[in-house]
Amino acid sequence: MKKSIVKDLSLADKGKLKIEWAENFMPILEAIKRRFEMERPFKGVKVGMALHLEAKTAALVKTFVSGGAQVAITSCNPETTQDDVAAALTEYANVYAWRGETEDEYYENIERVLDYEPNIVIDDGADLIVHLHKRKEELMNNVYGGCEETTTGVTRLRNMEREGKLMFPVIAVNEAKMKYMFDNRYGTGESTLFGLLNATNLTLAGKTVAVAGYGWCGRGIALRARGMGSKVIVCEVDPVKAVEAHMDGFRVMKLIEAVKEADIVITSTGITKVVRGEHFRAAKDKCIFANAGHFNVEIWIPDLEKIAVDKKKTRYFGLPYNQYLVEEYTLNDKRKIFILGKGRLVNLVCGQGHATEVMDLSFSLQAKSAEYILKKRGALKPGVYTVPEEIDREVARLKLKTLKISIDELTEEQLRYREGYLQGT
Ligand code: ADE
Repeated sequence: MKKSIVKDLSLADKGKLKIEWAENFMPILEAIKRRFEMERPFKGVKVGMALHLEAKTAALVKTFVSGGAQVAITSCNPETTQDDVAAALTEYANVYAWRGETEDEYYENIERVLDYEPNIVIDDGADLIVHLHKRKEELMNNVYGGCEETTTGVTRLRNMEREGKLMFPVIAVNEAKMKYMFDNRYGTGESTLFGLLNATNLTLAGKTVAVAGYGWCGRGIALRARGMGSKVIVCEVDPVKAVEAHMDGFRVMKLIEAVKEADIVITSTGITKVVRGEHFRAAKDKCIFANAGHFNVEIWIPDLEKIAVDKKKTRYFGLPYNQYLVEEYTLNDKRKIFILGKGRLVNLVCGQGHATEVMDLSFSLQAKSAEYILKKRGALKPGVYTVPEEIDREVARLKLKTLKISIDELTEEQLRYREGYLQGT
């Protein structure tokens, strides 16, 4: 019998409808699910997952279950679970998640998933895999391998690999082209702005928006903010990326200068204390700060707490948030500073995660990468692996097929030309 701990099982009907809605727009995952139903590649396999628990994630869980897997899942963030979806998912999996977990509850839920003794671990941010290595080493032998969804997680895993501490193979789904070029860039661009607009009910048009970090996510945020009519400033520590932002037509400057004119500051760096005391002190009155990076360390709220003379929560939302999405801090000169979603991932805490079609790509890669781990069981040494090129290209081909787009193919002569060394003669 499945065991779950969720907020309220009576929300299951609402969650079911949300999952159904998402599944309408995830045709690639649906095709994989249909194949899994026939082939049952995960029969007898336990899958442990720590992913933001919302409707698209539920579609991925159902895909594994259709392939014969038994699944235990928690969220990879204490504030991103949609409680109605979690309730609905209990029909398919052991679910341990609710929105607003304390830090202790968050790690207890991670442990519940690990105590399920998974053979494959699917992670977003690497908390599940790190916890397994640090606190549950005795369960390591059950694990064939894992998949990691996000930039921060892959960075942590590569650090473990470098130190010789990673004990099984993990596929860096984040490094597939069909992931970062679309999920990180357009997915984050859209969902971050959605979270911001949802939490604030303000316009982006004409506002000055400073984006800290010009990786794939930062590029997407800057691009989409410009598309909504904002004047965008990019702040970046990497000189090459800073030149790229300049050539893309953005103003580039230090964050300490940018905060003096920005109405909105969005961090997307993967680095800690990007926004700190000096930036809050220099910020314009009513500046809004939001974070789109994985952990809530980019906007260093303890520094703001130190200089604020007053603080209150505002902008309460019911389901799926059940919380205030904005914190208003007042400084001693009466300036106000607003923080969205407690400085946690604004697109999931104040929004609904990436668009469904984008997650169709990312989660199709997850499903196929997990299947790859299974097929290669015992053959891959511990380490971080990129998604095999063939999986990346197949997901691209399936995407084109669902869009009914045909593309040209090289002729035999063109193939020979490309492969030869006498080009031009
Ligand atoms: N939905 C589920 N996982 C997500 C992620 N990593 N980013 C955005 N939306 C998501």
